[in-house]
Amino acid sequence: MTDEARPSGACQVCDGRTTGFLDLGRQPLSDRFLTEADLSTEFFFHLAVGVCETCTMVQLMEAVPREQMFHEDYPYYSSGSETMRKHFADTARGFLEAELSGPDSFFVEIGSNDGVLLATVHEAGVRHLGFEPSGKVAAAARDRGLRVRGDFFEEATAIEVRASDGPADVIYAANTICHIPYLRSIFLGVDELLAPEGIFVFEDPYLGDILDKTSFDQIYDEHFYFFSARSVAAMAARFGFELVDVERLPVHGGEVRYTIARAGVRRPTAAVAELIAEEDAAGVAGLERLEHFATKVNGIRTDLLALLEQLKADGKRVVAYGATAKSATLANFCGIGPDLVSWVCDTTPAKQGRLTPGTHLPVRPASEFSSESADYALLFAWNHAEEIMAKEQEFRKAGGRWILYVPDVHLK
Ligand code: SAH
Ligand code: TYD
Ligand code: ZN
Repeated sequence: MTDEARPSGACQVCDGRTTGFLDLGRQPLSDRFLTEADLSTEFFFHLAVGVCETCTMVQLMEAVPREQMFHEDYPYYSSGSETMRKHFADTARGFLEAELSGPDSFFVEIGSNDGVLLATVHEAGVRHLGFEPSGKVAAAARDRGLRVRGDFFEEATAIEVRASDGPADVIYAANTICHIPYLRSIFLGVDELLAPEGIFVFEDPYLGDILDKTSFDQIYDEHFYFFSARSVAAMAARFGFELVDVERLPVHGGEVRYTIARAGVRRPTAAVAELIAEEDAAGVAGLERLEHFATKVNGIRTDLLALLEQLKADGKRVVAYGATAKSATLANFCGIGPDLVSWVCDTTPAKQGRLTPGTHLPVRPASEFSSESADYALLFAWNHAEEIMAKEQEFRKAGGRWILYVPDVHLK
């Protein structure tokens, strides 16, 4: 593509110029599961991704207003996966043994959802507070006895908590910081609330993994940023902080946990420079690599549609497994409606009986899935493949086949 033909915008972190490299078209809210009555008022926006020439941050070209996404009925419950329950219990124990081992430690979580991580901190008797603006998931956490504030974390709310509770030893967020376009306000809030020697730790899907696996379904309304060690280091420095550690994580298709401290407080580990060097060698933030990714995305669409059309012509029963937010991007970009995939099963009561965003596949309870009801299962929750395939062994044994599209379209 020539420079003139590429769309451009302004970086939400540094005001630099962003250049678009992938256009995923008109898309719905990824976590809005609809009733028939909602169909006429469904919300759509333009999903396109660009990279900042100055700070290398990869980001959406258009932001969806936060209240459209995170509200009373937000239907994502973090405790829905056994793998993630274990991951968060282990993560909490790591903090409890280190930063939270002193007297009267204080732990703050941004985007605490149903309390999947806070529960372990609470059981250890450590002072905690979750920020969770989505009503029902926050209520689920409070029902477990957890302390949760129903607000968005940002500068103003952080100042209030600093005044009432004092400084935090750890401010933590999983799969939330990448959801927040207004990162300046987040860093100002962290600056207010974090103890002088405290750490700000967040983990999110890693750009390097997304490019390597062509997992373009990680791109949707809620995922505004696609972090790399280089872009996070630049962002931290911009706000007076420093990236002092990185750790790659296997969850959600590949993530990185970033540890940030006030500039000069902690010596950065070797892992930081190593990961940045690895990214530079792979050209992670370069337009060439990003446009190659975009080409592969189009290839997946072609291959997946060809397979689904063939299965339909052969009279096979095809359903999908896991009504993930991610799958909204895949289904809407490829045009996968009930003509190609009859329904999708999911364990979340709040999603069952509803229609998926945009292409309107009916969502049914996971108990309805079996080799009696399906010949092929399109694995929308591919990031939980191990957990799901282990519990659905009968499907495979009875001749059922899984359809995967990460890192390419294949059967299993
Ligand atoms: N940490 C959980 C939940 C991730 S989903 C996990 O990893 O599974 C993202 C959550 O962040 C949602 O529950 C959403 O309501 C919340 N959120 C979005 N913006 C936020 C903000 N500014 N402050 C606090 N929470 C926020
Ligand atoms: P997930 O991939 O964690 O996130 P996102 O929605 O952000 O893309 O979502 C997993 C979905 O799959 C969630 O709706 C719960 C469902 N699920 C099942 O139905 N069965 C399972 O065994 C697991 C692990 C998840
Ligand atoms: Zn920038």
